[in-house]
Formats: sequence, C-alpha cells, structure tokens
Amino acid sequence: MIIAIDGPAASGKGTMAKRLAAHYGLRHLDTGVIYRAVAHAMLAAGIDLKDEARAAEVAMTLDPSTFDNPALRSHDVGSAASVVSALPRVREALVAFQRQFASAPPGAVLDGRDIGTVICPDAEVKIYVVADPRIRAHRRTLEARSRGEPADEAAILADILARDERDQNRAVAPLKQAPDAYLLDNSHLDIEGGVRAAIDIVEAVRAGR
Ligand code: DC
Repeated sequence: MIIAIDGPAASGKGTMAKRLAAHYGLRHLDTGVIYRAVAHAMLAAGIDLKDEARAAEVAMTLDPSTFDNPALRSHDVGSAASVVSALPRVREALVAFQRQFASAPPGAVLDGRDIGTVICPDAEVKIYVVADPRIRAHRRTLEARSRGEPADEAAILADILARDERDQNRAVAPLKQAPDAYLLDNSHLDIEGGVRAAIDIVEAVRAGR
C-alpha cells in the first residue's frame, strides 16, 4: 500500500505521515527533507540557490544518510528548500529515488507537495492536509521555541504565506490537491485528532467507501 500525503508547510502532514506509517507497518519518507538537504548543501558551499545546474548536481549526488541531520529542520533551510525545489532539474533528479522508496515492499507513506500528483499518482490513498496559515504559524513558533530557537510569530506567518505562494505557483509540480485526494482540514484538530481523521480516510478507502 502507498499512502500519499500532501499539504503546505506546517500543516501537520509530517506527524500524520509518521503515525500512519507506524499504524500500518509501512515505511515513511518525509520528502521535504530531500529538498532541505539540497538547500542545506548549497548554503554550506555558498552556491547561489538559483544556480540550477549546480543545484541539480547536488541533488544527483545526495547522500540519504544525511537526511537525519537536525540542521535540516531549521526555518531558514525550509525557506531555501522552497526556492531550490522550484528548479525543474532538481525535481527531476529526485523523482527516481522517491518512486523507488514508495514501491519497495511492504509499501510506504510519503509526505510532501507533489506525492499524489506527480511522484505516486497511483497511490491507493491520497490525503491533502490543509490548515489555517495563522494556526500553522503558531504551531511552527511553538516548535522553534521548544528547540530553543528564537521565533517571531509574525515573521513566521509572513514566511509561511510566501512559501505557500511559491510552492503553489511554481511551474513544475506545484502544491495542489490531486482530483482523487481526500481533503483533511487540520486547523482545529490536535495531533491525535488529526491522526484519527487520517486513519478514518484510509479505512474508508480500503473498505471501498
Ligand atoms: O515540507 P517541508 O517544509 O519540509 O518542505 C520544504 C520545501 O521543500 C517546501 O517549501 C517545498 C519543497 N518540497 C517540494 O517542493 N516537494 C515536496 N514533495 C516536498 C517539499
């Protein structure tokens, strides 16, 4: 079984994906981490984030064992990832890795922006998670503070809105709901509520409802 979860930054899709994978005994891939790893490597090497040829090279030679680096979680790396992920050659370089991950047994939960639309258009279950931008900004602020990072909620909200705009309006693989994806509004659900809503969707799909 492949479960595709897409949605904007800080919508809660990552936690949901992780919990769904544990619940169903599937592997989990947070695909945002891949774009973050590309952005992080470019920032570290002082490469212009819009240099498509070099970005594609970085993407092609990416080492998945670096994906658990905590530095990838920072807000700045997330914003840089949003910029490099708009480059078509970067996306192209990362498709095969994601599809291989998804199709290896026993199946997987992938979360990102284009999983249901581009990476796994045949996924059995597709969920599109949304949440009010102010609520997403508030959650990200609390997360940053819990990591001991200073966080300005208004600045985070502005950044989330800019990120939504970039992710939804890029020419290649923009963030959008696949026609056969279920919409899950996570604005007013806590973690448990969101996970339960996602499991309900999976169960309904499997029961053919
Ligand atoms: O989900 P995230 O915040 O870790 O993602 C960081 C950026 O990576 C996001 O703003 C856009 C990009 N991204 C993408 O283009 N496609 C994906 N499947 C996942 C992330």
